Amino acid sequence: MSRNNQSEHGSESIDESRRTFMKATGAVTAASAVGVGTNTAAAGANEDDITELIEELSLEQKVGQMTQVAIDDLGEGFGPETAFDDHDDVDTLGQLLAEHHVGSVLNGGATGPTFDGEEFVAGLNDLQRYTVENTDHGIPFLWGGDALHGNTLLDGCTSFPQRLNMGATRDVELVEAAATHTGNEIAAMGGHWIFGPTVDVLRDMRWGRYFEGHSEDSMLLGELGRARARGFQRNGRVAATVKHFAGYGTPNTGKDRAHARTSMRDLRTRQLPAYRRALEEAETVMVNSGAVNGKPAHVSQWLLTQVLRERYGFDGVVLTDWDDFERLQSNHQYLPDTPDGWRRAVKQGLEAGIDMHMCGGETPPTAFIETTIDLVESGDVSEERIDESVRRILELKRRLGLFDQPCVDEDEIGDLVGGARDVSERLAKESLVLLANEDDVLPLEGTEDVLLTGPGIEGETPNRFLMQHGGWTLGWQGIEDGDLTEDGPRPRQNTIAGELADRLGDRLTHVPTEFEAAPYGSIYENFDNGFFDVTDEQEAAVVDAAETADTVVVVLGEGPHNEGFGDRDKMRFPEAQRDLVALLDAETDDDVPLVGVIVAGSPRGTDETFDRLDAVLFAGQPGSDTGVAVTDALFGDYNPSGRLPFTWEANVGHVPLFYDDYPPRQSVGAADGMVQFEFGHGLSYTDWEYAGLSLSTPAVEDPASTSTVTARVGVENTGDRAGEHIVEVYNTEFYGSVLQPQRRLMGFERVALQPGESATVDVELDLATLEVVPGDVPGDQAAVVEAGEYELSVGDETTTLTVENEASITDPEPAPGRYDIDGDGSEDFEDVMALYRRLKRRKRGESGRHESGHGRGNDRGGERGHEWDR
Ligand code: BGC
Repeated sequence: MSRNNQSEHGSESIDESRRTFMKATGAVTAASAVGVGTNTAAAGANEDDITELIEELSLEQKVGQMTQVAIDDLGEGFGPETAFDDHDDVDTLGQLLAEHHVGSVLNGGATGPTFDGEEFVAGLNDLQRYTVENTDHGIPFLWGGDALHGNTLLDGCTSFPQRLNMGATRDVELVEAAATHTGNEIAAMGGHWIFGPTVDVLRDMRWGRYFEGHSEDSMLLGELGRARARGFQRNGRVAATVKHFAGYGTPNTGKDRAHARTSMRDLRTRQLPAYRRALEEAETVMVNSGAVNGKPAHVSQWLLTQVLRERYGFDGVVLTDWDDFERLQSNHQYLPDTPDGWRRAVKQGLEAGIDMHMCGGETPPTAFIETTIDLVESGDVSEERIDESVRRILELKRRLGLFDQPCVDEDEIGDLVGGARDVSERLAKESLVLLANEDDVLPLEGTEDVLLTGPGIEGETPNRFLMQHGGWTLGWQGIEDGDLTEDGPRPRQNTIAGELADRLGDRLTHVPTEFEAAPYGSIYENFDNGFFDVTDEQEAAVVDAAETADTVVVVLGEGPHNEGFGDRDKMRFPEAQRDLVALLDAETDDDVPLVGVIVAGSPRGTDETFDRLDAVLFAGQPGSDTGVAVTDALFGDYNPSGRLPFTWEANVGHVPLFYDDYPPRQSVGAADGMVQFEFGHGLSYTDWEYAGLSLSTPAVEDPASTSTVTARVGVENTGDRAGEHIVEVYNTEFYGSVLQPQRRLMGFERVALQPGESATVDVELDLATLEVVPGDVPGDQAAVVEAGEYELSVGDETTTLTVENEASITDPEPAPGRYDIDGDGSEDFEDVMALYRRLKRRKRGESGRHESGHGRGNDRGGERGHEWDR
């Protein structure tokens, strides 16, 4: 069905009910002005209509719009009469929407009240119809959820490869195609909001959300984030979310929601630029649950207003993360755990720039609603501030077409669930990274007797597939949160065991070893992300099969996990897996290749195990098409082309050793001992050679006006197999006014060549990747590309790019707030005067003590402004 048809169908019933509502009340409501009940986009609202609507809303109704409520604990299905069990303050979903005017609901953790697509749509339509009919202004609610690697909320879904896999492909278009499909599914489900892309720079494999972040490289991450946001939003009916703004990806010591390990310079040249790229597309932002430089992000005016709004010009909706006002008291211990502490949390969050609060398991919706109303009524927060947020929220609803088409066709979802198989399969294949391949033991001939072993079957329940999907798949911590039921939901999928059996028939012996996913438990017991074991019988079967096998394939890795429950303190494989590999090594002849396939969302494995393996394929968490992708790669039907999107340290003690850190990344001469595999590492079954790196222009006069340069390089497939290859151009040497990373990725391009074939490949280089913050320790000057000679490299080919004049590409201003002398959140004339007086006093030799002692929090900034004037 076409979009026009859906629009007509979807709005018909509402149209009818709105007419009934308006007849009954005899009122022409502001909602009619914004087009509820009309059935063409042309009759839709404009900005003036939104202004009119806001004028008509009561304070309660406005604050309701700013409230998002998790409706997770619903049992089967959902509708207006469904009990709201998450908190005691509201009885039914209908009440939540009609009496408390809640503007948005979410199903967190990639699960809804039903796994059936059509049931889902029917429930959501029902609820939406009820909301429009039973509220004064008929404003539809926004539904949001975590469709983070596909629409992994429905039975039979396509689970696209996880974000880390996406980073390995460097295939921006394909990643966008997957996101487009996801956005279409969410729209067809009646949803409006995807809480992705995640654009948090990755650096620490101990972090339980490592699998989510795409890459440790800011540019690659930002490009993929932007493409995914564009894909999600392509149909115009769904909003994407850039999260978690900002600095969430580098929590200290890898503990989820800890304060960020970063510096001002790092934040401004590596972390913020990634979000900024994705913000070019995304309509909404979710805030970092952690703190940056000692300030919780949720109350940071600097991040949420000065940087995000004023500097980046972002005017979309800013959403808290789950219960994050409460977390200011519990997690951060930033405010006391008292009613007053909670009130201050809400106040500071609103002042910092939050538009909508996500009420999860800890925050009863009325707690946020009543506190906000009280803050306004007592004059602590202005109603204008509230109106500002409500405008953004209503504008979003208008842009997404909610006023025109609040409900959707119930038949549309059926055809989409489990679709885009070609995209998923290709993405899975491109994401495989061949780490090692001694003596070219891979690919296999296809005629071997193969022993397949490793974590696989527990009891009667086949669960190898839990590892291949990871978190946010039909469950927060993975499918059914790792606790499988016989008739529970499953993604559309194929497995390594299944595909190998299909190809090898009797020549495959499969000895699955014990694996129990225990996402909530393993953090407390062993930090292994699951429990792994090899029973005596399994050991005996392995020994037996090893004797006759021509090749052994051993699957290694980690179970599904998510957020804090996924945090770990190990990089090496769990003991049972290490022992299994040692056993295989001992029980096989030297000429029997041992092939390791790592199924994990992080760099799992150390040389203790790698040294025993002849070939290692890092599969990541490739999702639905893991079986086909891995098997094709093992047999050479697909030639691996993925490159690591992260640095694989030699062991956990060296974490973090990200590739573009300042030198020295490790003690002099110790690189080999500290890094197992470098960022960008990835082997192929064929050989690649480069020739003649040149630039479209060897010298750039002004990077502000010429911010890209094209590199051209000859690439030849000199081996005897067809293959794909990612050409990466790095800046490898530069001496500037501050430390420079030893390598910086500036651009990449994928090429496919037959054996003996060569091509000239053009790679667009983004000079913004060269920006640094000059100056001394504060790191607050404007970021610039410094003048000088930059060595650029592709493999061993090098050339020089000369930058003739220093210039800013992304932002010519110093760090926001640098001139905010009085700390009131704006840089204005008052600050100039204050600075003038400060300098004058300093000249007279007076102490500036009281001037610099202004550290007590944003809410006192205004008062301090007066102090300065005295
Ligand atoms: C996560 C977010 C997610 C939200 C809703 C939070 O715990 O940090 O990334 O979007 O839950 O499920």
